[in-house]
Amino acid sequence: MRKRTIEDYVELLYNLQKDNEPVHTNDIAHALNFNPASITEIFQKLSKEGYINYEKYSGVTLTKKGKKIAIATKNKHDTLKQFLKILGVDETTANIDACKIEHVINSDTMNRLKKFVEFVQEVEEGSSLIDHFKHYYETGKN
Ligand code: FE2
Repeated sequence: MRKRTIEDYVELLYNLQKDNEPVHTNDIAHALNFNPASITEIFQKLSKEGYINYEKYSGVTLTKKGKKIAIATKNKHDTLKQFLKILGVDETTANIDACKIEHVINSDTMNRLKKFVEFVQEVEEGSSLIDHFKHYYETGKN
């Protein structure tokens, strides 16, 4: 399976599962607006490759391997989303773009971006830096 497909599904499963309860084919089909048969096929592949435990009627849970990828992908997603929101990107677009970038971003770039987000959020000058950028974005003037 493609890296991107694996990351997308384990991340989605991670977000949908509550208290480690199994996620059902229909929950995923509903979330993605896919037909349940194609979800079943994807689950079978993910299970075969060791990312999920799949029981036809009791649903899906992530394996240790699947959970590790899910958490790493979700962390990237959250940082990218925060970064895009700092730039002034709206919530919906930030989510959509984060979900694309998370699969291809270099890990060093990701680490720097994470530090940057922390820096902007934690240092006192961070918010004035954002305001300054906002002004520059809107007016083109420094
Ligand atoms: Fe994502």
